[in-house]
Amino acid sequence: MLAELTYRCPLRCAYCSNPVALDAYADELSPAEWRRVLTEARALGVLQVHLSGGEPLLRRDLPALVAHARGLGLYTNLITGGQALSPARLAGLAAAGLDHVQLSVQDATAAPADALAGRPVHARKLAAARLVRAAGLALTVNVVLHRRNIEHVPALIDLAAELGADRLELANTQYYGWALRNRAALLPTRAQLAAAEAAVTAARERLAGVLQIVYVVSDYHETWPKPCMNGWASRQLTVAPNGDVLPCPAAAQIPGLGVTSVRDRPLADIWFDSPAFTRFRGTDWMPEPCRSCERKELDHGGCRCQAFQLTGDPAATDPVCRLSPHHALVTRLVRDGEPAPTVPLVPRGA
Ligand code: SF4
Ligand code: FES
Repeated sequence: MLAELTYRCPLRCAYCSNPVALDAYADELSPAEWRRVLTEARALGVLQVHLSGGEPLLRRDLPALVAHARGLGLYTNLITGGQALSPARLAGLAAAGLDHVQLSVQDATAAPADALAGRPVHARKLAAARLVRAAGLALTVNVVLHRRNIEHVPALIDLAAELGADRLELANTQYYGWALRNRAALLPTRAQLAAAEAAVTAARERLAGVLQIVYVVSDYHETWPKPCMNGWASRQLTVAPNGDVLPCPAAAQIPGLGVTSVRDRPLADIWFDSPAFTRFRGTDWMPEPCRSCERKELDHGGCRCQAFQLTGDPAATDPVCRLSPHHALVTRLVRDGEPAPTVPLVPRGA
């Protein structure tokens, strides 16, 4: 379960996948409501909770939520930008039983990282990473890749190794929320992707047993779509800051989905019976070409949110698929060997 505790955040990353309109999420669940959600999630079979945002450290009740989750037997992962991760704060979280920290890093050096985040953040992130390792917690460094930082992949790998991270996640931007708005400025070229992938392959060999490197491909440059969420409502759920329960973090944008809040129904009812969760579960909803495709159990027709964003129809085949009648919507955006144009970024919240 992805528990999006708040969409408030001190950073202004232009690739943020949070919703563009945040007013509806200001009425955040109370500590007691989150504890009830965690209890219901464990009873439903949830094993891992990812405490995310926005910036989850802005919730003062975070250590109490971690303690409650650990008490239920849940594995707890904090997904943070690290700005408020003081020694005292981290000690409180570690004492509460936190298992793992995923720390975002914008770039390999301060100047471009701070420019992307909209304020000086890089030095504090490095300090936060060192605190996490000193506390003996597992650390993943996460970097969202895009046109402006993808050529720094070798330096990012060196940075993660130097910080003592267990795992480095190099994730090409997925185009939802603010990232969709900034797509023209963020899309890398094929040449940039090829160089990054070669650097990752070489580093995996060099750092085997030291640093695990996860590389998330650039969706738009692929032939087949990603198996988004491992299939709609099959094994993951997201609870938004206001209690809305979603099959994926971007689903709120799909009109008429019938989203239900944990304030109105128990989590298990929402998972099994709510319109949002049953709408695209399984394969019966699929149109052609997915319906008769031999890959439909592999990729589940791709991403519903991306289909909606690009075609206006959330039931359409994901246009990333080369068999989609809308595939040209993606291929025309992807540049083959062209120099990347300089397009200004719109920071989150601007
Ligand atoms: Fe996947 Fe549908 Fe494309 Fe087949 S047609 S590969 S099921 S998205
Ligand atoms: Fe919503 Fe892919 S992000 S289904």
